Amino acid sequence: MADTLTITDNRTGKTYEIEIKDGTIRADALRKIKTSDDDFGLMTYDPAFMNTASCRSAITLIDGDKGILRYRGYAIEDLAEQSSYIEVAYLLLHGELPNEAQLRKWTHEITHHTFVHEFLRKSMEGFRFDAHPMGKLVSMLGALSTFYPEAKKVRDDKTRREQIVRIIAKMPTLSAWAYRHAVGRPYVYPDNELSYCGNFLNMIFRMAEPRFEPHPVLERALDILFILHADHEQNCSANAARAVGSAETDPYCSLAAASAALYGPLHGGANEAVLHMLKQIGNVANVPEFITGVKNGSGRLMGFGHRVYKNYDPRAKVIKKLAHEVFEVTGRNPLLEIALELENIALNDDYFVKRKLYPNVDFYSGMIYQAMGFPVDMFPVLFAIPRASGWLAQWQEMLQDPEQKIARPRQIYTGAELRPYVPMSERATKPAT
Ligand code: ACO
Repeated sequence: MADTLTITDNRTGKTYEIEIKDGTIRADALRKIKTSDDDFGLMTYDPAFMNTASCRSAITLIDGDKGILRYRGYAIEDLAEQSSYIEVAYLLLHGELPNEAQLRKWTHEITHHTFVHEFLRKSMEGFRFDAHPMGKLVSMLGALSTFYPEAKKVRDDKTRREQIVRIIAKMPTLSAWAYRHAVGRPYVYPDNELSYCGNFLNMIFRMAEPRFEPHPVLERALDILFILHADHEQNCSANAARAVGSAETDPYCSLAAASAALYGPLHGGANEAVLHMLKQIGNVANVPEFITGVKNGSGRLMGFGHRVYKNYDPRAKVIKKLAHEVFEVTGRNPLLEIALELENIALNDDYFVKRKLYPNVDFYSGMIYQAMGFPVDMFPVLFAIPRASGWLAQWQEMLQDPEQKIARPRQIYTGAELRPYVPMSERATKPAT
């Protein structure tokens, strides 16, 4: 049996044989299908890339039907249980888990690049008191590029690695300062004696105490949440990092673009929507009525369903367990009872079962962040910090792939044909809009 596809063009009666490799055909193989010599050739039309692979990638595997997520071949459940976020960032970028010496060096490098230039701290003062922390993070990432003009040398391995270390190291600092600015508290400088997550909690929560001691359970919980959010293959923001980076834009600006994508409510904002929904339900007794409303089309069960996962999101399983551990320390988030009841009813209801709607990563994460003391508008920032390592791995892989070029899709033009220019005096008068 040949690994080919035979296509007959009924416009011309000609038949073409196209190679099938990895379950795909190359879109440019269709270009030889023409009606005449000056025909451009056949294209595919795929709005939102619903059925188009835009790259070959060895970083992350998702099998949505089976509920599988792996980074570089390792099951997300194993990484969440046994690794640290810093190890996972190394894995995503290097392809292998670090040995002891590699991890020591990597941790040292990340820890010693956490400070940011004082001018950047001062530029934070230009934002209004109520500026959203995600808008500040996007701006600060772009601004960082002005401090490291050498970052433009994206094809130079050593320079590229230096910027990767800087970005992973500085994301918590920028994020924590975006928060401190919003609440009017003095900025806290990084503490090199603390872990990646311990230091982030220090920069967020420290007040007058001479030394901030992160609670070990909360520090580990944040580390696990960071592992779970580190990469998710060709999602909207990873695609933005790749597309912008394909113009050889420096990594700071490429990641500013990725963060901007994550800021959108369809991407990084669903856990906030879950909290609003749980508050609106208000009481366990109101859950059945709410579910009936969802089934009658009055709204969606937020935190349920996923474009790729048609099974329990493996990250949601880990987070559900984690929620109980965090609430042992912080006290139970009163919204948990409502969430558990929602899940229980939905998983046994035909409407949700038939449509393969299961809890996704956002169903429980918001409640944990809230219990830890983070305000809701910090949720997308908490997503962006760990996702930076995934974006950088995707960006680097794109640069090192000899098949990749500047990302430049085609279009189907639907506008006017060529027409004579209309002078102002002959244009129809319409009221100003
Ligand atoms: N509640 C109720 N019904 C739902 C839900 C939901 N959360 N999600 C999907 N459905 C229903 C749809 O109404 C549709 O029903 P129909 O066939 O009778 O018309 C069917 O299930 C298929 O839904 P689609 O919208 O086609 O599924 P799609 O893959 O496009 O949507 C999405 C995926 C956007 C995540 C959707 O499930 C949703 O809106 N969920 C709630 C928001 C959410 O939790 N988003 C976070 C995703 S995780 C992340 O981005 C990190």
